[in-house]
Order: sequence, then C-alpha cells, then structure tokens
Amino acid sequence: MERMEPDYRIGKVLFSGGEIGGRVKTLADQIVSEVSGRDLLVVGILNGAVIFLSDLVRRMPAELNIKMDFMSISSYGNATTSSGAVRILKDVNSDIEGRDVLIVEDIIDTGLTLSYLLNIMYTRKPASLRTCVLLDKREKRKVAAKVDYCGFVIPDVFVVGYGLDYGGKWRHLPDICAVEC
Ligand code: IMP
Repeated sequence: MERMEPDYRIGKVLFSGGEIGGRVKTLADQIVSEVSGRDLLVVGILNGAVIFLSDLVRRMPAELNIKMDFMSISSYGNATTSSGAVRILKDVNSDIEGRDVLIVEDIIDTGLTLSYLLNIMYTRKPASLRTCVLLDKREKRKVAAKVDYCGFVIPDVFVVGYGLDYGGKWRHLPDICAVEC
C-alpha cells in the first residue's frame, strides 16, 4: 500500500527578516573585531548557508580582504531525520593552509556535520579556523563541535526559510519559520 506523506506547512515565525538582519550585523561586527590579519577566507556550506553568508559578508568592511569558497556536504537521509552519514559532495577550490578561515553553516543540530568538517579542515593546517552558525539546536547535540559565533539558539523544532529547507522547499522565505504538520 502506498504511504501517505504528512501534510507539512509553514508555521509560526520564529525570527523575522528584520530580527535576522540585526543579529547578522552584530555577528559580522564581532567577527571583524576578532580577525587578527587582514585576510579572511569565508567557506559557506551549500545550500543552506548561502543566504546567511551573503548577508554576513556584505556587513563586513572593504578593508578586510574577504575571499569566498563553498563546500557541499550530505548529512541528512531524508528531509527531517539525520542518517548519521556525512560525506563531501563538493570540496573547496582554495588551499586553506596558513589562512584564517571562517566556516559559515546554517544550522547545527546533532553536530555530526560540523565536527566531521572541522576534523577535515584541521588536517589542512589553516592559521585559524572559526565557525559561525546562524541557528543552534543545542539540546539535540550528539557530538561536540566548536561554535565560535551563533545567531540564535533554538529548541528542537524543524525550521525553514532564510536558506533552510524542508525537502528542497521554502529556502527563499525571508523569515525563519517552524514547520507544522
Ligand atoms: P547536524 O549534522 O545534525 O548538526 O545537521 C546539520 C544539517 O542538518 C544542517 O546543515 C541542515 O542541512 C540540516 N538541518 C538540521 N536541522 C534543520 C532544520 O530545522 N531545518 C533545516 N535543516 C536542518
């Protein structure tokens, strides 16, 4: 018999576009004040971090020499449940050895993705390696992962919008919303 998918829909707004904008500005200021050199390689994790990263870097001053690169990592078996399996689908194009690197991720949940990524990146000997996540589902953590900058800590709810998706949908929403069934 065919299994019926539950009817998921966009629910409550957790953070409006305006609130996110304010928080992104604060994060950008904090990151800039703590970058020791004049160069920063910002590595965005596709696809979820694209909107966050584009807003974040545009809040950084022209004097800071920012380069951007992207990685793609698979971490989820289906739309809402972690498979536990993590692998690189697309690697960075840049050599990160000796550089100040900032990894930008949309959300940290179990921590599997970020810890896996950090382990790989450390073997490449960057001068410094920091992480910036927009959302942190702290109570869901299974493995520790270093989070240097965090936009908002959220409870265990599935969220969409501002780059985050449910099965490829709703990334383009300006607000971050809970998904309801
Ligand atoms: P982790 O490896 O469990 O920390 O999961 C991180 C990844 O899971 C993120 O990069 C997202 O792609 C995905 N993810 C976790 N929670 C959510 C959510 O609430 N909405 C959308 N994606 C999520």
